[in-house]
Amino acid sequence: MHIGETDSTNRWLRESPATDENVAIWADFQTAGRGCGTNTWESERGKNLLLSLLIHPTNIPANRQFLISEWISVALCELLESYIYNKVEIKWPNDIYVEGRKICGILIENRLQGDHIKDSIIGIGLNVNQQEFLSDAPNPVSLCQLLGHEVDREEVLQRFLQRKPLVSTLESIGVSYRNRLFLRGKLAEYQDCDGRFKGTLLDVEPDGRLVITDEEGRERRYAFKEVQFVLR
Ligand code: BTN
Repeated sequence: MHIGETDSTNRWLRESPATDENVAIWADFQTAGRGCGTNTWESERGKNLLLSLLIHPTNIPANRQFLISEWISVALCELLESYIYNKVEIKWPNDIYVEGRKICGILIENRLQGDHIKDSIIGIGLNVNQQEFLSDAPNPVSLCQLLGHEVDREEVLQRFLQRKPLVSTLESIGVSYRNRLFLRGKLAEYQDCDGRFKGTLLDVEPDGRLVITDEEGRERRYAFKEVQFVLR
């Protein structure tokens, strides 16, 4: 379903009447687009894909909800690879990067029922045709900037919606996600609550925690927001 303007497509879905159907809603413009945490999401009117999906992944236990992040991140990498030759990577936990620049952000809001996921709202902000970014978001880039020409947003959306559903890819998703991890195996700088340090990104655990080996060989484990990448 397409709407011209709303405050946030994620909020729109969250406040819609409950349904067992899968729903996809996309907008031309958000007046209060939400990023992760307290961040906002910048998107010029009519230029990008602002999409939220409602899905019901009833077979995923609450303690494996990171699988949804893995699945959607890999699906978006594959979508982008059908347009560009550049390497598309996943910056943990689920930012999509091309050449060290962010092309897509994902905001996942799971609703739990007991030890299972009742439903999941997956918000996707994919930079398609925007050429100038005004917010202080680090290193944004769009498909248009990479390709040198505009791309039809609806065509991008249709290509994305035709991808395989979550259930059919669960077996292989962990490997695909880990193989695409930005800076995996490379020495890089990070910041945690004790300050900056250098380390090598080793892995992501099934619960989504990031594992970094520091220069003393110690393995450090982080939940989302407990560590930042220090990018130049
Ligand atoms: C991030 O901070 O990287 C996540 C950005 C997610 C933005 C998308 S745009 C569509 C959906 N609606 C929102 O308000 N946010 C998500």
